[in-house]
Amino acid sequence: MQWLFNLPIVLWRRLMLILQGLWALLWLIGSGIAALFGRGGTIGSRLAATIGGPKGLRMVFAVLRLFLPNLVLNRAIITAYPSNGVTALATRRADVIDILSRDADFGVVYAPRMEMITGGENFFLGMQDTPRYTRDTSNMRLVVRRDDVPEIVTPCVSNAARAIVAMLPGAIDVPQALTMPVAQKLLDVYFGTPGPSEAAMAEWTSLLFWYLFIDLQADPALDTRATAAAASFRSWMDGHIAARRQEQPKEDVLGRCIVMGDAKLPGMTDLDIRNNLIGLLIGELPTLSACANLALDELLDRPRAFAAACAAAQAGDDATLSAYVFEALRFRPLNPLIYRRAMHDTVIAGGKLRRRRIAKGSIVMASNLSAMFDPLAIADATAFRTDRPWEAYMLWGSGMHSCFGAHINRAVLPAMLKPLLAMPNLRRASGARGQIDKGDTPFPQHFHLEFDA
Ligand code: HEM
Repeated sequence: MQWLFNLPIVLWRRLMLILQGLWALLWLIGSGIAALFGRGGTIGSRLAATIGGPKGLRMVFAVLRLFLPNLVLNRAIITAYPSNGVTALATRRADVIDILSRDADFGVVYAPRMEMITGGENFFLGMQDTPRYTRDTSNMRLVVRRDDVPEIVTPCVSNAARAIVAMLPGAIDVPQALTMPVAQKLLDVYFGTPGPSEAAMAEWTSLLFWYLFIDLQADPALDTRATAAAASFRSWMDGHIAARRQEQPKEDVLGRCIVMGDAKLPGMTDLDIRNNLIGLLIGELPTLSACANLALDELLDRPRAFAAACAAAQAGDDATLSAYVFEALRFRPLNPLIYRRAMHDTVIAGGKLRRRRIAKGSIVMASNLSAMFDPLAIADATAFRTDRPWEAYMLWGSGMHSCFGAHINRAVLPAMLKPLLAMPNLRRASGARGQIDKGDTPFPQHFHLEFDA
């Protein structure tokens, strides 16, 4: 009889899928007409600005979820990694999770670029489900421990953010003054890898993240810059590890790596340590800074949510503050798509009407952004709500390769923003200065806010 009680819920969710899809279609048609008759730039650039923005993307996914949940195009969208020229895009939550859990069918693509970065070796995000993957992730989990998050990471971030905000004269350029310096502090204090300067670390990690995950069309100019950055990064890390071996032992991530290396643990030579840490640092710095800015921007666009987040920061209500930050990120995740390559001929959504055959070598994009808005799985999906179960969020992937820093992210992002959100009358600076400026990079470079000092 259980099915009888579930029936109304299933029907309601289907109805939401249809209504969301149709509403999004109307919105896209309206935006297309507005772009056609709008001013400034070409029609193409106006359309790209609408559809490429966070809301536009959500609308496109809502239409796809209804009409073409698993779209297959005979076109290579990603040329930075080898493929057979076919691209599939999965938008329903069930299919996204399915793809990201079938490692034998849909493999990670990043190995060639990881090998460029390390000068020959793969890093575990570029590895398939192999003994080497298990060895390297296990080694890194022994040095980046979950206990560290409450004991070292959160206090380090909270203190650094508080100290920065306490010195502000009532205005801040968020990425430059807060989010990058705080994420850098963690590299120094916790990882033991400060880099030759904050600027060098920011440039290397940002360029290499861009090269690995965002440079879909293999821009030759970026390739040159990334190759030079990787060489400098490797050389600095080699020298730093050698120098640390001459110093008193320290209880940070690098210090723990050195102890494991001394114990001759497999996969922990100085070269292995260098390559693993380079991989982790690329994941740490640009991402934490960018996500903090995206969350802040999204909250500022929602006055009621923003006021509630500020009130939670002022009251020291960390759970409520976190709920606002992560709900904001649901609307603005750093990575809206995660991509894989089909290891052999296979299918998506087997046994369903939306089943698609996927040929070996096809690039398969699984949209985590779309998955977080799928009304078939997420209650009241289009509403901004702070009472969602954590499982509703897919901000840093799913399955075997989901983010190594997941527990760090969950603690660091609210802690980094809390002292700023607690400032009285926090607001955007006027004009363009109060909007995120990425410069010529994919990451927030400037974002000016003001408050009553
Ligand atoms: C909020 C900031 C972050 C975001 C948005 C983010 C996002 C992601 C995503 C989407 C993946 C999955 C990639 C895929 O499946 O293809 C991933 C994996 C990974 N992330 Fe993060 N990440 C963040 C912070 C961090 C931090 C702080 C670290 C390091 C401590 C880190 C290290 C990694 C590593 C090593 C992997 C690969 C895991 C594996 O292959 O098992 N990330 N991240």
